Amino acid sequence: MMDRKRVESALNVVLGIAIVVFGGIATKTYYENNYQPKVFEQPEFHAAPLYKVEAKVPDATDPEAEVQADNPHATFDPWLAEHFKAPVDLQGDAPADWTEIEASLSPQSCGTCHPQQLAEWQTSWHHLGMGPGMMGQLVDAKDGMVKACQRCHAPNAEQYPRLKGSEEGATYQDNPSFDSELRTEGLTCAGCHVRDWTRFGPETETHALGSETPPELLEGETADSEWVDPNEGLPHNGFVAKGAYQEAVFCERCHDFRDGEGKVLEEKKLQETYQEWRRTDAAAEGQTCQTCHMPDGAHTFKGIHDKEFVQTGFEATAELKRLGDKPLEPLEAELTITNVGAAHRMPTYTTPRIVLIVEQLDQSGAAIDGTRQEFMVGRETTLSLSKEVYDTRILPGESRTLMYSAERAESATGLSARVEVWPDEQYRKNYENWLSTNMYGDEGSAILKEAFDAATDSRYIAWERSVDLASQ
Ligand code: HEC
Ligand code: HEC
Ligand code: HEC
Ligand code: HEC
Ligand code: HEC
Repeated sequence: MMDRKRVESALNVVLGIAIVVFGGIATKTYYENNYQPKVFEQPEFHAAPLYKVEAKVPDATDPEAEVQADNPHATFDPWLAEHFKAPVDLQGDAPADWTEIEASLSPQSCGTCHPQQLAEWQTSWHHLGMGPGMMGQLVDAKDGMVKACQRCHAPNAEQYPRLKGSEEGATYQDNPSFDSELRTEGLTCAGCHVRDWTRFGPETETHALGSETPPELLEGETADSEWVDPNEGLPHNGFVAKGAYQEAVFCERCHDFRDGEGKVLEEKKLQETYQEWRRTDAAAEGQTCQTCHMPDGAHTFKGIHDKEFVQTGFEATAELKRLGDKPLEPLEAELTITNVGAAHRMPTYTTPRIVLIVEQLDQSGAAIDGTRQEFMVGRETTLSLSKEVYDTRILPGESRTLMYSAERAESATGLSARVEVWPDEQYRKNYENWLSTNMYGDEGSAILKEAFDAATDSRYIAWERSVDLASQ
């Protein structure tokens, strides 16, 4: 048996030879593992499902949910539960004594008396809901698909080319009330405000909740002569005030899928914005979707396509960690964004990407090839929606960081860190795929090409800083 000392010295000899022989290679391997730029890879991160995040306000879609004493309208409302149907029922005949303009569903008619709402709504994505991205897919679509899509994008029955009765065994028939012009208007005023020719809206000073009907009489009481009909003499017989218009749950039917609707990947539905909102401090503090998306009643519904609006949602910081100007030293920087102003995941839907980008710049300020690294904030699924690839969306207060590490290019004199927004990215990829396979035929492809171009052009820079490396 060899004693320990001898084993050690024998090993040292072996090691000594190894270092001499492999030294050069070993250093190179070490260099490659530690100092070569690590080509950035999008992490396979999967944000936790919502049931793991504590809810802060009750679920107003649930008839059993507890009534909030301080705000009963934020709880289940049977009127709202019936308000959005697929499709919304035909309005039928308007009252015979109405003018043509009162008896019209066209947004332009509403706009003759409500010009501000019309002008704002025309800039909104609700109005653009039947754009080329949708119409290209609906060329030759089956009735069931039209119904599945239009229930959110153009929900009034007058916007459906064909309808099916509710009786058992009913089949789709051409719709005599179809208005092809109205269809192109997307989610219109009527989609949110008109049912059976009655206008519904938020309460006002003149229209308290329930004020449009005389108070119910108790037995033996005679009619209360003090009741004045607030709708007396108003166009379209005035309106009925409903508390739901000022509650987040008003938006839920189209901004969330419910159980049994659509795909569930990693225990998360494709859209669950209201359910996300319920888990935020903003919800607990009484901020609704309308607070941010309809400030002072504005019908602009600004969202991910609007740069200034998105800038209210995040804070970004960039930090240079290593200059990368010494031998074997990579250039390192960190770019972090935090959700400080979106009361749901940022972004909430699978379509947009918020992209953190760092790259090196040459003297002229141009990006140097091969130095760019990107981190996608968003939820990527396979195009067939069979699998979630990653979900890096951020709840309020959460952050994501791109840790940049790359060899410093010889010509590098600056570093750019920026946040880009690609509002239509998932759809852009879909369009690209469908166009390459001519999936929707020549007619569909021609329309989808327009959608593809628009989705590519919609990208913008939301935040940007650059550092002069020479002066550091
Ligand atoms: C001829 C003019 C006129 C036309 C056309 C018209 N409205 Fe009105 N609307 C009014 C007036 C006047 C009021 C009452 C305003 C008030 O009391 O504050 C009103 C009230 C409303 C309200 C309730 C507002 C609130 O403060 O809650 C809604 C919602 C509404 N209209 C929607 C529509 C829609 C949707 C259309 C088209 C389908 C339409 N209106 C067409 C004149 C019109
Ligand atoms: C009847 C269905 C429906 C209702 C109700 C509804 N929405 Fe939408 N909303 C849509 C559809 C469909 C789109 C997408 C349209 C498109 O991009 O083609 C959309 C898009 C949006 C966007 C995205 C804008 C962007 O930049 O991408 C915002 C923000 C929004 N809605 C806010 C709201 C708010 C707030 C409410 C409640 C007051 C609400 N919506 C109610 C159907 C609805
Ligand atoms: C539950 C409501 C809902 C249903 C059902 C729905 N969508 Fe949407 N869709 C939305 C919302 C909300 C957005 C906007 C998301 C955003 O702005 O990030 C959207 C965005 C889109 C967009 C991208 C924006 C645009 O207009 O170019 C297209 C295309 C689209 N939907 C097509 C469809 C098709 C096709 C169907 C049917 C298979 C469908 N949608 C069903 C709610 C819905
Ligand atoms: C996505 C649903 C939606 C669509 C589409 C929509 N509205 Fe509204 N509207 C609302 C909500 C919600 C409110 C209440 C906003 C609040 O009080 O915070 C409202 C409020 C109103 C009011 C009351 C005054 C005010 O501005 O608060 C009028 C009038 C009105 N809408 C008219 C229209 C007209 C006209 C159109 C079409 C040009 C239209 N709305 C399209 C949801 C909608
Ligand atoms: C405290 C302000 C705030 C509240 C409350 C809020 N949002 Fe947003 N929302 C934002 C901001 C900021 C953005 C832009 C950044 C982003 O896309 O997340 C946004 C984006 C969106 C978008 C664009 C698409 C996307 O994928 O992000 C939709 C749709 C949307 N919100 C719907 C809603 C609905 C529905 C509610 C209520 C359940 C709601 N929001 C509540 C601030 C808010």
